[in-house]
Parts: sequence; C-alpha cells; structure tokens
Amino acid sequence: MTIDEPIPVVIDCDTGIDDALALLFAVRHPGIDLRAVTCVAGNTDVDGVVRNTLTVLERAGAPAVPVARGAERPLIEAVRTARHVHGRDGMGDLGLPAPARTAADVDAVTLLRREILAAPRPVTLVPLAPLTNIALLLRTHPEVTRNIERIVFMGGAVATGNATPVAEFNVWHDPEAAAILLTAGVPMTMYGLDVFQQVVVPGADVARLRAGSEPGARLAGELLAHRGPATDEAEPGGGLGDAGAVCAVADPAGLTTQLLPVEVSLAPGPARGQTIVDRRARPGESEIHQGGREQTLVDVALGVDVERYVKLFLSAVEGP
Ligand code: BDR
Ligand code: CA
Repeated sequence: MTIDEPIPVVIDCDTGIDDALALLFAVRHPGIDLRAVTCVAGNTDVDGVVRNTLTVLERAGAPAVPVARGAERPLIEAVRTARHVHGRDGMGDLGLPAPARTAADVDAVTLLRREILAAPRPVTLVPLAPLTNIALLLRTHPEVTRNIERIVFMGGAVATGNATPVAEFNVWHDPEAAAILLTAGVPMTMYGLDVFQQVVVPGADVARLRAGSEPGARLAGELLAHRGPATDEAEPGGGLGDAGAVCAVADPAGLTTQLLPVEVSLAPGPARGQTIVDRRARPGESEIHQGGREQTLVDVALGVDVERYVKLFLSAVEGP
C-alpha cells in the first residue's frame, strides 16, 4: 500500500449522535474510502437509524455511499434503545430534515457481503453498534473474512460498563452476536469504553464548529454540544464517542493496545454482556488445575492520545 491509498472502510452503525460524528469523520478524512454503511437497531429503532444515517451522509456531502437496513432486533434479546441519551429521533432531536433518498433495496448482510468482496483491497470493517448484523454476516457468508484486513469495533470495556456496572451497551444489547464477532478469525481491535469516554473535544472548539457556516462542520458542533457532559460551563465540551474508533483506523498510532484474550459473558445475571479481558501476566490456579482454554486474542485499546484524536477529527471535519 502506498501512503496515498485510502483505506477501504465499511461501517455498521446505529446512528446515534456519536455514530453520526463517526460518519462525518469517515466521509471527510482523506485516508478513508467509505464504501458502505449498514444499519442496525441499537440507539434507536432500525428505521430511525437508516433515516439518521442517510441524513448525516447528505449533510457530510457524501450522498452516494450505499446504505442498507439490517437487523431490527438482537439475536435473542429484545430491543432496548438508548433514546434517553440520543433523543427521541436517536440523533439529538436537532430537527434535521428527512433525507432525500432511501436505503438500498438489499438488506445489510447482502450489502456487507457485496461491498467487502468487491473491494479492491481488504477492507477494515468498523462496527459501532450492537453486533447483530455482523454476526448474521459471519454466519451467512463466512467467506467474507478473506477480504477483511481488520475489524475495529466500538464495544466492550476492560474496566467499568455503562449499560450495567460491567457491560458496555453495544455488547450488552446483543451478547451472542458479540461472541460470534470475537470468533471471526481476523485481526481485531477493541475500542472499548476505557478509551471511548476519554476523547472529549474542548468547549471552545465545539462553539467554533457550531458557529460555522459549512453544514457538515456545523452538524458536528451541534452533535458534540448535545453529547457534552452535564456541566454548567458556558461552552461545554463533547465526547467523540464512536468517532474515536474511526480515528483509530485512520491513525492507529494514537492508540495504545495490548493483544489480550477477550470473551463475552453470556450467562444470565449481573455479568451478562461483560467483556472479560484477561490482563494477568501468568496463568492462574484455574489454568494450572483445569488446563488452559483456547481464547480469541484481541488488540484491546488501553490508552489513547486524546489531543491527537481531537486534532485529527477537527482537521478532517473542518478542512484545512
Ligand atoms: C455505544 O453505545 C451507543 O450509545 C453509542 O453509539 C456507542 O456506540 C457506547 O456504549
Ligand atoms: Ca453507536
């Protein structure tokens, strides 16, 4: 790959305030070639996700990227939206106009298969939502992995969860699907809550974006302001959220990762949906007495250069 060749990327999302930020960044970063976007129920219902996704792509100036509707509920669980965070419309209730076009006339799994296999170089698949579409894809068309370079997913947590004390929303929403993802057999980066929550755009930058006249950058400002942590500051900052995972695709050096065993807790009860990340330096009594188990190794994000990703996001979205 030469330095000028953009990375072919396919995003699966539940737009979603921070998914919208991720789409804006992916469309505008010159190192990313956004080839398709698929939608899944999560932050809001899947039809709302499709509408929000199409609207954001139009605002971002990328109306032609194919978008497909995917799963309307998890494999086993019921739909459990996050509208209390993302607003009634799932995208901050900003009063945005309906999109001019509709989704592709194929479902998400079909579009994913088509775009992954048709890409001129192996793609980076970026799930930013419950992993239902990805699990269905892997079970229906396992051959797609031959043209996937890496999966960079937002999900899970090494330390504290958000949906429960230990489970992160995307994994908690569809734990079985997340467990299937982890067995995909391709290199994988977990951009979990541990880094997700750190990358916050300062209030002054959010205010500048909001005051601008370019529609995509202004939308980024509005979304960041909505997402901002509860504060009485006059100019609140806002988290990049899912957009940080796309920053990690464009600039992996901004992330500190460690290759670690990861598994999802599927048992009913308080640990359901937890990503169990084994950070031990040596085998424990369990392995000594019962023997080791084969476990998936994942590049788990443990640290992030916040300033670097904020700068990267702003320069892509605002332009030079
Ligand atoms: C994840 O859940 C959703 O609310 C966000 O869009 C993000 O993908 C964080 O837990
Ligand atoms: Ca999301």
